[in-house]
Amino acid sequence: MCGIVGYIGTQAAAPIILDGLAKLEYRGYDSTGMAVFDGNKINITKAPGRLKVLEELTHGGESMPGHVGVGHTRWATHGVPNMTNAHPHFNKEGTIAVVHNGIIENYLKLRHMLEEKEYQFVSETDTEVVVQLLDYYYRGNPLEAITKVLHRVEGSYGLGVIFADHPDQLFAVRKDSPLIVGQNETGCFIASDVPAILKYTRKVYYVENQEIVRLRQDHMHFYTEDEEEITKEAVYIDWDSNAAEKAGYEHFMLKEMYEQPKTVADTLLPRLKGNDIDIEELHMSNEELEAVKKIHIVACGSAYHTGVTGKYVIEGLARIPVEVDLASEFRYRNPILEEGAMVVVISQSGETADTLAALRESKKRGFKVLGIVNVVGSSIAREADNVMYTWAGPEIAVATTKAYSAQLIALYLLAMKMAQAKKTISGEEFGAMIEDLKKIPDQIELLLGNKEKIQRFANRYIGAKDIFFIGRGIDYSISLEGSLKLKEISYIHSEAYAAGELKHGTISLIEEGTLVAAVATQPALYAKTISNMIEVKARGAFLLAVTNEGNNEIEKAADYVIYIPKTNDYFTNSLAIIPLQLFGYYVAVGKGCDVDKPRNLAKSVTVE
Ligand code: AGP
Repeated sequence: MCGIVGYIGTQAAAPIILDGLAKLEYRGYDSTGMAVFDGNKINITKAPGRLKVLEELTHGGESMPGHVGVGHTRWATHGVPNMTNAHPHFNKEGTIAVVHNGIIENYLKLRHMLEEKEYQFVSETDTEVVVQLLDYYYRGNPLEAITKVLHRVEGSYGLGVIFADHPDQLFAVRKDSPLIVGQNETGCFIASDVPAILKYTRKVYYVENQEIVRLRQDHMHFYTEDEEEITKEAVYIDWDSNAAEKAGYEHFMLKEMYEQPKTVADTLLPRLKGNDIDIEELHMSNEELEAVKKIHIVACGSAYHTGVTGKYVIEGLARIPVEVDLASEFRYRNPILEEGAMVVVISQSGETADTLAALRESKKRGFKVLGIVNVVGSSIAREADNVMYTWAGPEIAVATTKAYSAQLIALYLLAMKMAQAKKTISGEEFGAMIEDLKKIPDQIELLLGNKEKIQRFANRYIGAKDIFFIGRGIDYSISLEGSLKLKEISYIHSEAYAAGELKHGTISLIEEGTLVAAVATQPALYAKTISNMIEVKARGAFLLAVTNEGNNEIEKAADYVIYIPKTNDYFTNSLAIIPLQLFGYYVAVGKGCDVDKPRNLAKSVTVE
């Protein structure tokens, strides 16, 4: 996520901003910038790359004198990481400067409206729309202009704003993207997160949705989006600074699991237009989608697992063949790519060597490649013909969770768009699926609420030697990811098996008390999976089942059942994976493993 820091007070603003941004580096970013009012005008310095570049450019802030300013570390969502797209963004006269964390979902419509009014845009970002709209509404009253903008923009935002002709004020605005404000004897602060200002004050105010804060050197006022003044209670922060970077969570992995409702929504909602899906970045017309005869999905690790789910969903909905390959295999097996084929590569980091090689191999053979990528401007994002970003924000923990969940959403949308183009599902089915998609973030939230129950269950297995995951169809794909989550952070041996395949060998490994996690979310396959569960139970296995609410039949075979809320059969992976992520996490925590940085692993495997 982007990082925001602002200050107004008796001290020089720039050094405080730089110091605060440094405490937000853990959020991940690819460019930085700062705007400070020097008593006469707003000066702006921006730079792609690390914060150190901005520090050097501004001599630690000394070359940007002034007592009010805003700074930003940008995690690119719209527009590659470069100087122009870096924040702060400003209006033509340079009298208003804005930093933003979030996604303005209707930015294209607003940009077109402003361009018709002769506004010129210089960046590719959604954020620039905010500052140009402020300029459009500004008649000398900053609060009035801000509230007018809030009534026009849709999406998520944490904003820091300064106005050259009101240098005694700094504004903070929030909707969905976290923002806090604080005060000490020298002045007032805004920040995306506690670590940025913890060294200056432990007394903070959490800005709520649609609230505006006007900060002055020695006091703050809070307003609603209708300019009504409100009062707020301060919160005392007693975290140590390290804990603060994880926003109070013990590990980044847990924090990122809990970010999944928001990151799934951030990936989904901007692509829902009423009751339709608009994947503008596909750059493919319905005719072109209809003409696709086969899809090759290529990825590694968890990204490969989402590809396996993608196979079932796309084949089930769009009725075209889908082949899923491990990138390390694809690149050397002289793959057969036929006319009408489309290649989709999936990668959180966008730098995985095998996946990048698979992309290049496909392009060398003349095939278009769609990248489903999380890191904007990464190698895969740059080299793919088209990119569908998963707006999950930076993922710090080596074990992926929120990016994985966002990749699933991207694949559901692609499958539904394909099915719509090929007319293989009715408008009614399509509409019902859209409604089911919208419920997923809240359903994930609900499942995350089970963490204590799952932690207790996980503690029984910290001494386990082997744990197996089984399932059929999409449930097999879920089992693959559940098994990987467990083994990569707890170092317990685990395997995922197509439930019907167990009896062809692996069942010989089942002993008294061996834990087998059976995933059964596909009603058409319940009976088959239950019979596989009975097979392993007969050999002494302890059976954990993850299944749909209402499938109580499974309690005849399972020893421990976790239910997931009702959703479309094609979307169950998004829900069933949540308890399995928590299970793997708590087994690893119980074993005292380094959950965020497991042994032997890297967050991005940039070598073969
Ligand atoms: C998943 O938890 C692992 N970190 C690993 O399997 C990862 O999914 C794989 O290396 C692919 O990485 P990518 O998505 O960045 O390409």
